[in-house]
Amino acid sequence: MTFRKDFLWGGATAANQCEGAYDVDGRGLANVDLCPVGEDRLAVITGRQKMLEFDDDHFYPAKHSIDMYHNYKEDIKLFAEMGFGVYRFSIAWTRIFPLGDEETPNEKGLKFYEAIIDECLKYDIEPLITLVHFDFPMHLANKYGGWRNRKTIEFYAKFVRTVIERFKGKVKYYLNFNEMNVLMAAPFMGAGLYFEEDENIKEIQYLAAHHELVASARAKQITKEVDPEIMMGCMLAAGKYYPAACKPEDVLAAQEADRNNYFFVDVQSRGYYPSYMVKKLEREGIMPEITEEDEKLLRENTIDFISFSYYTTRTISGDKNAALDKANLLDTIENPYLDKTEWGWQIDPLGFRITINEIHDRYQKPLFVVENGLGAKDIPDENGYVEDDYRIDYLRAHIKAMKNAVELDGADILGYTTWGPIDLVSAGTGEMSKRYGFIYVDRDDYGEGTLKRSKKKSFDWYKKVIASNGEDLE
Ligand code: BG6
Repeated sequence: MTFRKDFLWGGATAANQCEGAYDVDGRGLANVDLCPVGEDRLAVITGRQKMLEFDDDHFYPAKHSIDMYHNYKEDIKLFAEMGFGVYRFSIAWTRIFPLGDEETPNEKGLKFYEAIIDECLKYDIEPLITLVHFDFPMHLANKYGGWRNRKTIEFYAKFVRTVIERFKGKVKYYLNFNEMNVLMAAPFMGAGLYFEEDENIKEIQYLAAHHELVASARAKQITKEVDPEIMMGCMLAAGKYYPAACKPEDVLAAQEADRNNYFFVDVQSRGYYPSYMVKKLEREGIMPEITEEDEKLLRENTIDFISFSYYTTRTISGDKNAALDKANLLDTIENPYLDKTEWGWQIDPLGFRITINEIHDRYQKPLFVVENGLGAKDIPDENGYVEDDYRIDYLRAHIKAMKNAVELDGADILGYTTWGPIDLVSAGTGEMSKRYGFIYVDRDDYGEGTLKRSKKKSFDWYKKVIASNGEDLE
């Protein structure tokens, strides 16, 4: 058998993309609530257009999403039916600390996640918790300037301690932040940052990134104190950069792009800033303040495993004028050797193996693939059944590639969770019609639909994959 006996198969979601109930049981307002569907979304999530409160001209899909807040029992039961060994979900910070700087947590928020965890454990599903999946309390963004303010580290630490203490003994796997590198591409959605006109955006992004890095070390420090059994991982939006040609200028550009992405994991895994980033930040005059205490914290609190999402590779040229597309929020030029999804993301299973190998070589720590999948338009029949062979084909090819990375290349992988095992709101576009699930949810881009859940063809296929520990992919 290729995969380890205790390999964890499952699926992954994020609070704001599935829970809904944005103002229920004391939850506070978060950045992710304010990202509308439609043509303004990109400007809002990248911080170019300020959206600090709801208005009547936009539809905000995270407000109600697929209402997992009230359907989690039914949904987890379906995950259990597929044989999930792990369910990755995130905790909405604003359910626990609605403003972010309160003294005491919101008990109703803690109870909600406790119920989810207990529901998972009832079916022997390991909860894998992302502490922050993009969400950030708007009160902290408005009052303190968000992650650009060092105080945020302690607000986060308090949130983390509250969660970890409460769920001690029940949860073994945590991720400190989802895709920290998204902070550079989508600073409002990724970290609640918005900017004034005269500000140096890049400088603020790296300052905020530094605070998140120190915060993630604090999270590890807290788990060591509270429950040393916990495995703390970091999380990267991964995907190798290919040079457009074998021209050395293109190869150097690809190396730089990879480094910009790996920077966060380099710090979290090695415990210090890599020299290429020190040089770059000094050269550009935007080096954040790094105290001796920060350095000690980073050094002593490196992560236990590396998790990442993989959807696509990207291609880059040394020519600054080359035409760019976006794939999972990051720029790429078109790779003529690859097909694309309906949303223009290039499909590259072999690139998955290449990416796994690179991360394995670079860090020599256990890996966890916590997102992979195909966002596609599904057309259900009158019973909500979807013949999603395209999704099965995508996942089969990627699982085969992951298998090769283990069997032929020797990567050590703890588990694999597909993105959005149940249809949910897209982070990039805010659409419901960009579906990833094995379970169809009757809801459209503007909130119409019954929210009824139904199984797609891929449901039984994934069940078979899990039952055979990845051996039966047909
Ligand atoms: C990952 C994010 O980058 O990609 C998820 O962690 C996101 O939150 C996923 O949903 C897929 O992207 P999208 O834009 O298709 O939802």
